[in-house]
Amino acid sequence: MRAKVLEEFKKKFGDNEGNIRVFFAPGRVNLIGEHTDYNGGHVFPCALTIGTYAVIRKRQDEIIRLYSMNFVEDGIMETTLQEVKKKQVTGWTGYPAGIVWSLFQKEFQIDKGFDVLYYGNIPNGSGLSSSASIEVVTVYALSKVFEFALPNIEIAKISQFSENQYNQVNCGIMDQFAVAMGKENQAIYLDTATLEYRYAPIRLDDEKIVIMNTNKRRELGDSKYNQRRMECQKALEMLQSVRDIQSLGELTCEEFEESKEVITDMVLRKRAKHAVYENQRTMAAVDALEEKDLVKFGQFMVESHNSLRDDYEVTGVELDTLVEETLKCNGVIGARMTGAGFGGCAVSIVKNDAVKDVIEAVGENYKKRIGYAADFYVVSVGDGPKEL
Ligand code: GLA
Repeated sequence: MRAKVLEEFKKKFGDNEGNIRVFFAPGRVNLIGEHTDYNGGHVFPCALTIGTYAVIRKRQDEIIRLYSMNFVEDGIMETTLQEVKKKQVTGWTGYPAGIVWSLFQKEFQIDKGFDVLYYGNIPNGSGLSSSASIEVVTVYALSKVFEFALPNIEIAKISQFSENQYNQVNCGIMDQFAVAMGKENQAIYLDTATLEYRYAPIRLDDEKIVIMNTNKRRELGDSKYNQRRMECQKALEMLQSVRDIQSLGELTCEEFEESKEVITDMVLRKRAKHAVYENQRTMAAVDALEEKDLVKFGQFMVESHNSLRDDYEVTGVELDTLVEETLKCNGVIGARMTGAGFGGCAVSIVKNDAVKDVIEAVGENYKKRIGYAADFYVVSVGDGPKEL
């Protein structure tokens, strides 16, 4: 892949002098702990081996030229350091532009422009964090090219800052953290309230992680995402009249049950219930995995999906169908939606010798019920950002 993107860079931007460098950052899948990261709860994602490549060369002027092999129809987009400082850029270039803007805000020294080519092999709009991946690869590449030291955890924070402030998506820290801190064959158990984390080995000798893409476009996703955040905030404020807490993640299920009556609106009560139970479930699921009880982990995945379907209401018929059909198959340890929901992907753990049959059966039944095909990816757990 390095040779391919490098060659494409030279074709687009020329092969003149200057050091051309190639970087990579992964996508991510979340195994459990959904819609908990903005509620001060736990998440358990891992980085993938698919992701975003960035080929970059510093310039001697203040021009920034951007090109994506995924959006060839856009051609080369040109801007300047001054323009990025001042102006909101939209579309895919809003992500790298947001990063440059954020680095300025944080007073990092970027005094020259650059040429950059991107290539991503994360399916577009799949909910496997292509945006966090392009953010993180951009911060990482710029930190190397402009020689400022930045620990990966800071890269995650700047990337989230950029998405919140520049791209106006009110996401939590999970995606950027998973991408920036990924480790081969390890999932990341992160407490989003404190950013304390530890790695938990994903020892899957007899199983595979299979990601299933609904191929549903997520149109209303962002507005509904922000709506869920607000609903949790309102429920929290009601609970604060009887509990001294800063986030829903501080409550155990028992404490929630004792106090839930103060949440007088039934919809808000369901949202808060998911946030509290999902956080507790994530903690228990990681314990189960560390005790090598994969079957129990799989059961928690299914409970997580049901809660996201019934209480949080972010699944939809496509994700529900994928999960339902998957759970009908032999050799399936667990399955659930992953990421924000409203479309995007589901994740499952499947016995090696059942993978082929599961993909065939679920593919066929999904198409029959939904009317168009799903896609399937058998994935591996990969590392965080690196230079190639
Ligand atoms: C999106 C957001 C994350 C997280 C998930 C839901 O992926 O970017 O911060 O909230 O949804 O768990």
